[in-house]
Amino acid sequence: MRDEPGFAGDDDEPDDSDLPALYHFVYCSRAADSVDDAEVDRIVEAAQHSNRTHGLTGVLVFGSGIFFQWVEGPAENIKGLIARLHDDRRHHDIVALSQSEEERERLYPNWTMERVEAEDIRAVLLDALENAEDKNNIAALQRILGHLGSQPLLSLG
Ligand SMILES: Cc1cc2nc3c(=O)[nH]c(=O)nc-3n(C[C@H](O)[C@H](O)[C@H](O)COP(=O)(O)O)c2cc1C
Repeated sequence: MRDEPGFAGDDDEPDDSDLPALYHFVYCSRAADSVDDAEVDRIVEAAQHSNRTHGLTGVLVFGSGIFFQWVEGPAENIKGLIARLHDDRRHHDIVALSQSEEERERLYPNWTMERVEAEDIRAVLLDALENAEDKNNIAALQRILGHLGSQPLLSLG
């Protein structure tokens, strides 16, 4: 998924050598019981402010008590955020699904942090499971999916 307006590369296809090194971190986690919709909005609002300062962009999906976040930017700043996320008691059971540095364009150049509605968070997690290679990640994703199985899913539209 790419955010449409002003996607970098509208004019000329950039040459790979022009692209900055970009670090990305993708994870899912379980929200604390106290986290409701309004709290997620507050998380996103604060993240937008902080991410603008740190050159970070990405998306946050929240559904059925599960977070799924893609965040990209300079390696040092992403690593700082990862440390803060691990200290944040509004979620737990953080499962890192993907993290690496590549020379590429941003996937979400215009979103300092965009909340994306998950019509069905299960589809997002199944997709991550399909792409997961690490056996610990596979086990953790299966555990989360099992946990979701005992809860009503979000309505489909
Ligand atoms: C699911 C989730 C996603 C978050 N995403 C971001 C983010 O993109 N950027 C950010 O600065 N903080 C984000 N936060 C908040 C950080 O965990 C942390 O509270 C915040 O950066 C302030 O940290 P500090 O009080 O140690 O300065 C997120 C928190 C949660 C629970």
